[in-house]
Amino acid sequence: MSKFNVSQFRQQFAFFTHNPSWVYLDSAATMHKPHAVVEAELAFYQIANSNVHRGAHHLSQQATQLYEQARDTVAGFINAKLRHEVIFTAGTTAALNQLAFGLMHTLLKPGDRILLTALEHHANIVPWQLHCQRHGVIIDVVPLTANHQVDLEAYQQLLKLHPKLVSFSHISNVLGHIQPAAQMVAMAKAAGALTIIDGAQGVVYQQPDMQQLDCDFYVFSGHKLYGPTGIGVLYGKTAALEILTPLLGGGEMIEHVSFVNTTFNKLPFRLEAGTPNIAGAIGLAAAISWLAQFNNIDIQQHKAALLHEFYQGLSQLKAIDILSSPVHNAGIVALNIDTEHPTDVAELLNQQQIAVRAGQHCAMPLFNSLGKPGAVRCAFAAYNTLEDVNRCLLALEQAVEILTA
Ligand code: ALA
Repeated sequence: MSKFNVSQFRQQFAFFTHNPSWVYLDSAATMHKPHAVVEAELAFYQIANSNVHRGAHHLSQQATQLYEQARDTVAGFINAKLRHEVIFTAGTTAALNQLAFGLMHTLLKPGDRILLTALEHHANIVPWQLHCQRHGVIIDVVPLTANHQVDLEAYQQLLKLHPKLVSFSHISNVLGHIQPAAQMVAMAKAAGALTIIDGAQGVVYQQPDMQQLDCDFYVFSGHKLYGPTGIGVLYGKTAALEILTPLLGGGEMIEHVSFVNTTFNKLPFRLEAGTPNIAGAIGLAAAISWLAQFNNIDIQQHKAALLHEFYQGLSQLKAIDILSSPVHNAGIVALNIDTEHPTDVAELLNQQQIAVRAGQHCAMPLFNSLGKPGAVRCAFAAYNTLEDVNRCLLALEQAVEILTA
């Protein structure tokens, strides 16, 4: 029996008070925010608002202190060796765009190869394509096994082509499958490749330990970790960050500017041009501090119990085609009803006030490789209950009756 008290946990989210009749199963798209996060952002704007790193006045120094404390909180959370290894970005997508742009002329040269996997989100495909095609860099893709996991044997074979870098998702945003990230990093390093992990879904499942994972880069968004939208993190080892060409130029990322030449500031500022999302960083730090009061093992046991109940219930329904494996699953289930269009299924669930995402989930190549047009995605989070699971099952049963009648 889990020690986790879900009703006490739910009480910390105003969203559920305002939307008591909704079953929210779209946390892989964005999480709800606890009072602690909303209050931290509000307090910054109401009490401490000023720009950072710029002003001569006390208020700016105070805002700078709060912003830099947020960096320390993130660095501690992911066990970064050094605080300047945490770069604040607008989110995972922004971080991956910075990486693709930043490595294109320093690490990658025409004829080089990079390695992605078949289950990547578009944010870990398109930024590479934007630059690779133009600069003659070849993209290889690791296929999936019959269980829709990354095929490690094929991965090993593709590493023999000596890719300069490997970039993969910690957890599939569609299937919920957890990749063996540490093993994949070790294999890539043995082949001499730089490693990037898209932690957009991974960061909420398990506090990622940078020194243990030993990846060169790890990126994630605040809003999938109970934090605000518009803030994210690009973690990099110092040596890896040093070779990035800044994607954004502007204020504060420079050391000296003339019309002849510009020299750049030191890390982390070199990669944080312009006024940053100060309140967002403070909100993200508040989310991390708030989360620290809960035991992650208890939370994961609670989610595993929800998943178990959901799979049990699905097995009793006819016409359900489940794409996600219950094994090594972080709490996301992609499914279809026969060959019915996923948006039709999602609309029937919506009519029952059950919020799910439907379609291709920003992962068209994954659906091509699965041979499916799309799926309905039920994403469970710590604040979901057994009642949520049962309401979703009942709504799916009714949808089966309506659509397959
Ligand atoms: N990347 C988010 C998702 O998978 C938005 O839904």
